[in-house]
Amino acid sequence: YGGPHAEVNCINSVAEVNRHLISSSTLYVSLEPCAHFGKTPPCADLIIEKNIPKVVVACHDSFAQVNGCGIQKLRNAGIEVVENIMEKAAINLNKRFFHFHRYQKPYVTLKWAQTADGFVAGENFQALPISNAYTNRWVHKMRASEMAIMIGTNTAIHDAPSLTTRHWVGRNPVRVVIDKQLQLNKEADLFNEAATTIILNEVKEARDGHLHYFKINKEEHLLPQLLQLLFQKNINSLIVEGGPALLQSFVEEGLWNEAYIITNEALFLRSGVKAASLPADKFISSWHMAGDKIVYYNNLPSPSETNIT
Ligand SMILES: NC(=O)c1ccc[n+]([C@@H]2O[C@H](COP(=O)([O-])OP(=O)(O)OC[C@H]3O[C@@H](n4cnc5c(N)ncnc54)[C@H](OP(=O)(O)O)[C@@H]3O)[C@@H](O)[C@H]2O)c1
Repeated sequence: YGGPHAEVNCINSVAEVNRHLISSSTLYVSLEPCAHFGKTPPCADLIIEKNIPKVVVACHDSFAQVNGCGIQKLRNAGIEVVENIMEKAAINLNKRFFHFHRYQKPYVTLKWAQTADGFVAGENFQALPISNAYTNRWVHKMRASEMAIMIGTNTAIHDAPSLTTRHWVGRNPVRVVIDKQLQLNKEADLFNEAATTIILNEVKEARDGHLHYFKINKEEHLLPQLLQLLFQKNINSLIVEGGPALLQSFVEEGLWNEAYIITNEALFLRSGVKAASLPADKFISSWHMAGDKIVYYNNLPSPSETNIT
């Protein structure tokens, strides 16, 4: 976050021998070029400076400081602008960014894997492999799309996860774990240097290298405090990978946007840790992935509250 925008990277990526073509090219962007000085100078100015004659914009940037100003700036400079090409797909592509600015909190995705009879672990929290290797890789791809990943205390204890994207190319998200009394073993993979780890606790506020301790107010609900913290840290999306206690709290507090439930339809456990549950009316679709069933839910605002105008 805060690095050069796509327009800058795109223009910089043009080889020296082809640079003379820029002034006769069409620039295609999934989001309206920015018009303001933020962490970087306005992309609209760069496009004007490079004499790019035509820009195709998939969707408007609803961020208050842009919101049509980027397009207007280009038009004022005599650039031809074509708007709203593949608008729905572009809004979906930019959903985390839009949600973050509109609601001042990260976009939250829930994900878990369950047996055919609805368990996520065995008796006494015994961790068990549920999804297949292909689905696991898909999950790592999802992780690479999110800026943060979260688990609850019992999952940290019993699953000993590292929460990295090791089966996919991409950055490891910032890890978030609840450890109220700082009881978790800091030698565990979860705390290694592969990613920054935010430790929500009731004991201290501190920073120890890549470990960020955030002291929660125990008189108040934890999740709104967390989402505010992530907003302040400019983290625009979060994937929550369990366990069911944590997942259910996001559902109950209405603080989720999408959910993916992976079911191994051939695996029955009959007892153990029960999966979380989602409101049936939030169901959108389901499909199969190499034998696992994926069920998708979403909890998005009504169309009038989205960016589609
Ligand atoms: N199959 C899967 O996809 C999957 C994924 C993850 C985990 N699991 C399994 O799930 C089991 C653990 O489940 P679980 O539901 O007990 O664990 P969990 O959600 O990982 O941890 C629960 C604990 O975290 C804290 N916590 C969670 N949500 C909170 C909230 N909103 N506010 C404050 N504190 C909160 C509480 O700690 P305190 O008690 O300290 O207050 C709570 O007791 C393990 O057996 C693991 O193997 C399965």
